[in-house]
Amino acid sequence: MTTEAETPRLTMSGIVKRFPGTVASDGAELSVRAGEVHCLLGENGAGKSTLMKILAGSYQPDAGEIRLDGEPVVLNSPQAGLAAGIAVIYQELDLIPDLSVAQNLLLGHAPAVGPVVRKKKRLELARAAVARVGGDFPVTATVRDLPIAAQQLTAIARALTADARVIVMDEPSATLGENDLLKVFEVIRSLAAEGRSIIYISHRMDEVMEIGDRATVLRDGRTVGVYDIADTDPGELVSAMIGESRELVRTTQRPRPEGEPLLEIRSVRIPGVIDIAGIDVRPGEVAGLAGLGGAGRTTLLRALFGDTRAARTVRLGGAPLRASSPAAAVRAGLALVPESRKEQGLMLGLSVARNAAVTALGRPPWLLPGRTGRVRTAPVLKDLGVRFASPDQPVGKLSGGNQQKVVLAKWITRGGVRVLLLDEPTRGLDVGAKADLYRQVRELADSGVAVLLASSELNELTANADTIWVLHEGRNVARFDPRNTSENTIAHTVITGVTP
Ligand SMILES: Nc1ncnc2c1ncn2[C@@H]1O[C@H](COP(=O)(O)OP(=O)(O)OP(=O)(O)O)[C@@H](O)[C@H]1O
Ligand SMILES: [Mg+2]
Repeated sequence: MTTEAETPRLTMSGIVKRFPGTVASDGAELSVRAGEVHCLLGENGAGKSTLMKILAGSYQPDAGEIRLDGEPVVLNSPQAGLAAGIAVIYQELDLIPDLSVAQNLLLGHAPAVGPVVRKKKRLELARAAVARVGGDFPVTATVRDLPIAAQQLTAIARALTADARVIVMDEPSATLGENDLLKVFEVIRSLAAEGRSIIYISHRMDEVMEIGDRATVLRDGRTVGVYDIADTDPGELVSAMIGESRELVRTTQRPRPEGEPLLEIRSVRIPGVIDIAGIDVRPGEVAGLAGLGGAGRTTLLRALFGDTRAARTVRLGGAPLRASSPAAAVRAGLALVPESRKEQGLMLGLSVARNAAVTALGRPPWLLPGRTGRVRTAPVLKDLGVRFASPDQPVGKLSGGNQQKVVLAKWITRGGVRVLLLDEPTRGLDVGAKADLYRQVRELADSGVAVLLASSELNELTANADTIWVLHEGRNVARFDPRNTSENTIAHTVITGVTP
């Protein structure tokens, strides 16, 4: 626990926010100093994003007080939040997709003479902000056309143009790759050095230990502790988040599944992009795909799923796999949980139960009788530990991590899946939720499903995969048995493309 010396830049005290069926903030406290990087931690649904939406002026609290540099402030709209010097980069980015990067960056505060926007000046300011975050895309590009990482960088650049005193980043690492994240870390350090305060939300302890000065842990909408990160062990933070000591299983050391391969990737090729050959996955096997960003993992999974055109020789259960489109892939028994939340096919306005049941019942979800959806999905949602007030609640109202779990629930509810393709399935999940997810994946595998699991978290692969394939610059360069290979050896191969 820490004590306050000077007047903090920001204090939020006794913040209460109720939603129907949920108390998202239940007397939360947060105090942030000028020039510090303050991490906000907690399980999925603990109330992190809600507290930040209150700070932004997007949600009105039912009780509580906010002070900036000691002065009480009323932030009753997002404009009021921005005017007070608070910029929030949301988990679900709130850029306007049809406007250009430059227009988004200076929305609401474009340089102008009277009503006339000074377009050249705007481009200049926008270019400077994008360059500062290390973006290499043109500011004239339409946001919709940019990859998700570039959109995330645009959102961060926007906070820079707003000259904010407090900048909140809600899980940037859930959408950014390793390289972009390193750039963002540099930006965070330089912003903090200028005396700005950064509130950083992440579920990854390695990032928290690297970038954070202090951390506040929330549980069930309440603050359970404030820590100086330099004197705190990551295990301590995790225990504070999950409350009771909970078993975060390391998988059983099972023999590698034997028998005929279910999925045989003889060759998948896109000239100049990927050239993968000779990956087999047996029923019951979890095959990990390790690699750096751009190594080809996502492309391979999408090509298998018929979502990207590729020259493929792939067999499923001894017969050629016909998956010329995602619909055909689903009919053949494939399921893909894609990496970006925006593509995960959730219908945010529809209920949790309908979303979870949609692939199961093969009918447009709005035609589903509500009861059928609820009955079919209840056990799966419970098993995955999805937190919601009611199965009839719109899925868009769930916390980010809980939305992620509903995507997996869709496929589990469906049944009939023979090959499960998972692309970074644990991004945005808290530690407990990761363990729940891997337990589910293991159960699916044990029921005979072949699983291909792409992850950037090598420790998750070594703990959960039966085999690890390393992809490097579009090729599969090595295969390891995690039971008798060190993580270091695998990491070396991931980076260099050669086995030490
Ligand atoms: N607009 C809303 N309407 C109803 N309930 C909501 C709304 N926003 C959030 N909640 C609920 O409030 C609780 C806290 O959600 P919040 O998004 O703040 O969690 P979080 O800590 O950010 O989680 P994650 O790590 O998964 O992003 C959850 O139970 C969520 O379902
Ligand atoms: Mg959140």
